[in-house]
Amino acid sequence: MEAQLLDKKCIETLNYRIQQEEDSARLYEQCSLFLDNLGMKNLSALYKKYASEEMGHAGWSKSYLLDYRITPELRQLKDVDRSFTTVKEILDITLSHELEITRQVTELAELALQEGNHVLYALASKYCAEQQEEIGKATTNLDIFALTTDLLIFDSKVG
Ligand SMILES: [Fe+2]
Ligand SMILES: [Fe+2]
Repeated sequence: MEAQLLDKKCIETLNYRIQQEEDSARLYEQCSLFLDNLGMKNLSALYKKYASEEMGHAGWSKSYLLDYRITPELRQLKDVDRSFTTVKEILDITLSHELEITRQVTELAELALQEGNHVLYALASKYCAEQQEEIGKATTNLDIFALTTDLLIFDSKVG
């Protein structure tokens, strides 16, 4: 049998990345469904787009593993947080979720550097750069939200 091209730790961390990005996709799809039902069509469409972007991020790790002849593992996803009842709660959950993902991908970058694995570091950097954008979107949406008391006006200003 040929030696594996990636070490166990790297495979584990990328399978975890896939799972976490897919969890993010489900969270944002749940938000999108809630917002659709509320009548906030633009914000709902935006969250639907976020959900599909998260699946794209999962795809980055899937491709990486496949390039090294490893079959990615699709692991169990967690029950989605459906505790939110307001638009503001969704915006807050989004920011705190993105901060948590930023922590995770920073850890991935640190692992890559510890191992002197700059190919993995390039992938980790791509995730980190994406997080700056996502935190930016989350904070911008909160800023716009703070400027109006009218949900339909807010809905017309996002996206
Ligand atoms: Fe992501
Ligand atoms: Fe994200």
